[in-house]
Amino acid sequence: MITRSIKKASLMAAAMALTALQSGAQTYLNPNAPIEARVQDALSRMTTHEKIKLLHAQSKFTSAGVPRLGIRQLNMDDGPHGVREELEWNTWSPARWTNDSIVAFPSLTCLASTWNRDLSSAYGNAVSEEFAFRGKDIMLGPGVNIQRTPLNGRAFEYMGEDPYLAGEMVVPYIQAAQRNGVACCLKHFVLNDQEIDRFSVNVNVSERAMNEIYLEPFKRAVEKANVWTIMGSYNLWNGVHCCHNDALLNGILKKGWNWDGALVSDWGGTTNTWEAATGGLDIEMGTYTDGKTKESEFTYDDYYLANPFEKLIEEGKVPMSVLDEKASRVLRTIFRTAMNPKKVIGSQCSEAHYDVCRQVGEEGIVLLKNEKNILPLDASKYQKILVVGENATRSLTQGGGSSELKTLRDVSPLEAFQTLYGDKIDYAQGYYSGRAIYDHVDRIDPEKQATLKAEALNKAKSADLIIFVGGLNKNHRQDCENGDRESYDLSYGQNELIAELAKIQKNTIVVTFGGNPYAMPWLNQVKALAHCWYLGSEAGTALTNVLSGKVCPSGKLPVTFAQKYEDYPYVAFGAEAYPGVNKQVYYKEDIFVGYRHFTTNNVKPLFPFGYGLSYTTFSYGKPTVKQENGNVVVSVEVTNQGKMAGKEVVQIYATAPLLSNIPRAAKELKGFAKTRTLQPGETEIVRISIPKDDLRHYDENTHGWALTKGIYTLQVGTNVNDIRRCVTTTID
Ligand code: BGC
Repeated sequence: MITRSIKKASLMAAAMALTALQSGAQTYLNPNAPIEARVQDALSRMTTHEKIKLLHAQSKFTSAGVPRLGIRQLNMDDGPHGVREELEWNTWSPARWTNDSIVAFPSLTCLASTWNRDLSSAYGNAVSEEFAFRGKDIMLGPGVNIQRTPLNGRAFEYMGEDPYLAGEMVVPYIQAAQRNGVACCLKHFVLNDQEIDRFSVNVNVSERAMNEIYLEPFKRAVEKANVWTIMGSYNLWNGVHCCHNDALLNGILKKGWNWDGALVSDWGGTTNTWEAATGGLDIEMGTYTDGKTKESEFTYDDYYLANPFEKLIEEGKVPMSVLDEKASRVLRTIFRTAMNPKKVIGSQCSEAHYDVCRQVGEEGIVLLKNEKNILPLDASKYQKILVVGENATRSLTQGGGSSELKTLRDVSPLEAFQTLYGDKIDYAQGYYSGRAIYDHVDRIDPEKQATLKAEALNKAKSADLIIFVGGLNKNHRQDCENGDRESYDLSYGQNELIAELAKIQKNTIVVTFGGNPYAMPWLNQVKALAHCWYLGSEAGTALTNVLSGKVCPSGKLPVTFAQKYEDYPYVAFGAEAYPGVNKQVYYKEDIFVGYRHFTTNNVKPLFPFGYGLSYTTFSYGKPTVKQENGNVVVSVEVTNQGKMAGKEVVQIYATAPLLSNIPRAAKELKGFAKTRTLQPGETEIVRISIPKDDLRHYDENTHGWALTKGIYTLQVGTNVNDIRRCVTTTID
């Protein structure tokens, strides 16, 4: 039906273009003409070579327009947490501009932890304004690969382990960014769930898990936000690289989901002329960058979608319609962005952007432990507060790979503590990590490490409160592209250090950064724990606002924190399931990723999915449920019963009726809503609407979605293991 109307629209556009051409009017330059008419008109004026030129890079981060016709090039940049600094035209070296310092926004894991769709929209709006101001048309992000393993080096760039949460949270971001005339380039499509062997690993996954878990957030972004560009992933699926995988890109994405955008390769992700020509790729970027390290004599005209593709067209081996289709998609992107009359001018480092950065941080920090209500901090109780840990001062906007940012101003945790508590604050680094970029890792000097530790332990003796600030950082094999973590433990001796500090001083609070869950053998020894993901430029301010109680914490985990690494579902299946053997990885846990495994197989996590403490408490009324217009609508009263104003995230997990032959997860997130700030005693009626289609499972026999009839239990809770109320509804 939709396909038919798109076809009809492009036929009409072609007719309009022809009339325009005959009358001499330049429809493609008319900002008020419909985009499809502009596309068809532009296409009709272009030579084969000009069309080819649209399809590949002309520099590290741009692809060409058509100068002769005044059609603009596409300027791209990483993404997703801010605009990357300018690089040289042809290399990965910084261009050393002096006006490209920006606001670093919190990592996407942090955004996901807010469970706040409005904040996601504010984030998308603010970050895209920075891209627009820098003259960019496409931001390379956001990312919604599923967090299958806590070792994934790029998890911080994604939105957790649940396809519904990631999908719902990414939609407002994309909508807001694209309203500003900046295209999002959603990455990495698809199954780029580990960094080990990322260029060569072939993922074997069941059709059901592929659809229910891994494709789902991308599908939401296509269907609900009409994301304008998507980046293919490096890895292979069914033996074919995902940047030009015909079944994936032409079959599922373009035909199946009716997507009209442009598929951009990951940098260096194109490997084969025939597949590049026929496998659904539209813009080839970064070929022969060889893992970002070496440049070669290879020119832009040698790209697979450049001269080699043109030769295939000239020889008639690939029909002109394939070239026209690709060129149309790129032209559409140009008219949506670079030549969009509504594209905003944008701004860089505005106070409004810092505000968004801070708010996302404040709502994304997850309070995991708060014994005896040591938090919010009552500083009058303490004379000497010792801050320990490298992350209290380290710039965490640097490192990590392509998402590294050059910022104008950052507030570190230590600075913010000093601003708030003045002379009471002392600092000891406690450990060091060195800098590690890609394959280079600084060797840790044990003597230096011991000296730092001794100094911290010594200072601890005279402190009456310790705030440890550590966790992961953006080093290689911590949170960084092209490498996964080597262990579930924190590195650099942090476990021992925290344990020893806590022995000396019982008032120890731990603050961690990082995109992943991790083991915490010292948990029982410390009074409080807050996990911050990465907080960007306003890190210190957001953190101290939460710890001091200026803001009531409301972040909830988008991933399960297991007690031990072995509890993650794929681990039991050995190396074949992660990181793969002979470049083949098998997703043997199937649909039981993250909490789907923990809840179904009764494995007790350390902190469940959706978990996060508050300084206040909320009570849940008796929910009501009704079905209207194809939706199941649950309403529930939530009341703030504590003494501090705060927000609550209401989560709905569905349990489907069991069909004997179809395994189902015990609980699946199907709806959520964050309340407004509720004053003590205040009540909000939260209404959550679940489309019945969202209750379907994927049926491998029919290769389609199926809705099981019967009684569904909808569990209303504050995390997946803390269900406050249940209702049932019957689907006939
Ligand atoms: C990364 C992408 C990034 C691109 C350009 C690749 O190595 O995987 O996420 O956008 O480089 O920097």
